[in-house]
Amino acid sequence: MQIDPSTRREIGVFDSGVGGFTVLRELQALLPMSRLRYLADTAYAPYGGRGPDEIRARSFAITEHLISRGAELIVVACNTATAHAIEALRARWPTLPFVGTEPGIKPAVAATRNGRIGLLATPATAVSERLRALIGRHVGDREVIVQGCPGVVDHIEAGDLGSPALRTLVEQHCASLRAAGVDTALLGCTHYPLIEPLWQAALGADVRLLRIETAVARRAVDLWRPGSEAPALHIETSGDPDALRSWIERVLGWQAPDVRRWQVTM
Ligand code: DGL
Repeated sequence: MQIDPSTRREIGVFDSGVGGFTVLRELQALLPMSRLRYLADTAYAPYGGRGPDEIRARSFAITEHLISRGAELIVVACNTATAHAIEALRARWPTLPFVGTEPGIKPAVAATRNGRIGLLATPATAVSERLRALIGRHVGDREVIVQGCPGVVDHIEAGDLGSPALRTLVEQHCASLRAAGVDTALLGCTHYPLIEPLWQAALGADVRLLRIETAVARRAVDLWRPGSEAPALHIETSGDPDALRSWIERVLGWQAPDVRRWQVTM
């Protein structure tokens, strides 16, 4: 019997680890009838402390795998991989649609009243040329304070969403934004919405926090042509599947998710 290839069409979603679940949740809500495959590159998380070449190499290996499983749309649910790899991914697979994740500078420019915007991101995103260009395109006479936030993703990956040590770290990273008096702040890493109350507490209730994952999922919906495939969610990790399974159960509240191990030799 021949398998109709259209039944294997998937949307592939990836991140260094658990951050992309913030995007995946939105995608599931908007496209409940689709086949989704989420890849958490846990063995290499966090990406934020890695160099551009390594981030690109991981993104290529993951994309190749997702395509081999039937992906016809790739959602890069990671600001850091978008900053350093999306152009190269699009050049390598010119006919495959990619949706990237980038801080919403434009909405922040529209939202700010005092012209001062804060941007919280991983160290690798914070120093990226792509971010510099994005800011340059949209910011005009507003000021954007970019703060790299080493260490935060490690806590979240470990399932810590509110320890005193994490709170102190978040306060330290928010100090430059507070000193500048920003009235709007962008969560420029898909892990950060998982600890949104901590950012809000550290910045103060008057600062407006902007997230991007809904806009990313909407963009994916615009590019996706729903077919006849049966809905499914596959979750894979380059790390320990049991650890990811219990993280998902504890933090997202999903019951007994099926998590498989994925390995690649580079
Ligand atoms: N969640 C990712 C991002 O949006 C990557 C975080 C990391 O691995 O450092 O940038």
